[in-house]
Amino acid sequence: MSDIDPSHRDYVRIFDTTLRDGEQSPGASMTLEEKLQVAELLEEMGVDIIEAGFPIASNGDFEAVSEIAKRSNGAIIAGLARAINADIDRAGEAVKLAKRGRIHTFVSTSPIHLAHQMRKSEDEVLEIVKSTVARARNLVDDVEWSAMDATRTPIEFLAKCVDEAIKQGATTINLPDTVGYATPEEYKTMFEDIRARVPDSDKAIFSVHCHDDLGMAVANSLAGVAGGARQVECTINGLGERAGNAALEEIVMAIRTRGDALPYASAVDPSFLTRASKLVAAVSGFPVQYNKAIVGKNAFAHESGIHQDGMLKNAETYEIMRPEDVGVRETSLVMGKHSGRHAFKEKLVSLGFELGDNAFEDAFNRFKELADRKKHVYDEDIEALVETEITERRE
Ligand code: KIV
Ligand code: ZN
Repeated sequence: MSDIDPSHRDYVRIFDTTLRDGEQSPGASMTLEEKLQVAELLEEMGVDIIEAGFPIASNGDFEAVSEIAKRSNGAIIAGLARAINADIDRAGEAVKLAKRGRIHTFVSTSPIHLAHQMRKSEDEVLEIVKSTVARARNLVDDVEWSAMDATRTPIEFLAKCVDEAIKQGATTINLPDTVGYATPEEYKTMFEDIRARVPDSDKAIFSVHCHDDLGMAVANSLAGVAGGARQVECTINGLGERAGNAALEEIVMAIRTRGDALPYASAVDPSFLTRASKLVAAVSGFPVQYNKAIVGKNAFAHESGIHQDGMLKNAETYEIMRPEDVGVRETSLVMGKHSGRHAFKEKLVSLGFELGDNAFEDAFNRFKELADRKKHVYDEDIEALVETEITERRE
């Protein structure tokens, strides 16, 4: 879909929570300066909502949220708040200088959380939803309400809570898969059921928020969108609690690449994705795995002879996205023991060598021997072996 009109029914808002849920990864905390850098880049790339932190958590978090709010230039800046008056007031204070500020308040709704964490009954939780959403709505026009552990909550009670939150003026309803437990089919059905059960569901935007404990966060997020959600909460590199959150770059590229199956629009400019990934990896200290989708070092690298041959003939044989679309300069054909003659010849041409047939065969055999011994075959190794081949042929 090329239409990037936020009021369009198939527009999916990207809500980045790298600075809040992402920072909750043990060891991923960032300085104010680093958070400002990340927020600036997120805004530049077209992220719709930036969850900048949890203002009550510390003075540092409050300062980061209010500074990001002050500098924001169109993106909605959200501050997280538990269902506690002091949290809500602090979040309201932190986002008040944003051109568009949001309070994101949440409460647990599942039986296991109610019994062991909150020690509250369903009726008491409903009262909390009522009073806290109303309080937040008194401070700002844009209030998001989340049902923590929604996917393990009985649907009847979840619907009552959602209904109450919307009655009190919540403009976004988030139904998180807090513990990464749902399957895509279940998650999609939950959104369909809730929207069918809550009479005023059209008054709010529904949101997905998925954790990756079973490796299904992105699939679940997209399933939630198929079930009617139009906001996706995600993080750069999938940074987040435990196994992380749904990865923003994967959501954005899935929508862009598979518009036939996922007919939605997002305003995020994907050419920033690699830059954002590198920045978040650097400031969080969490390196990106080599084979990570979209932004991993190997995401556009090919070593096998069959793949390299195909790539040299037509890039679409083994690439479903163009590297430049996500900010990678070019595909790399990595020279290794799986590489074939075609790629080796291209490599020689790129290094400025032109060998006759026999010399080429000998050089290729030398290269294969070297690749069997060495994990990485660099351009310098190839130059050296070709030069040896040329010298020996002269003698
Ligand atoms: O995973 C979760 O439920 C959360 C909420 C605070 C939205 O992060
Ligand atoms: Zn979360």
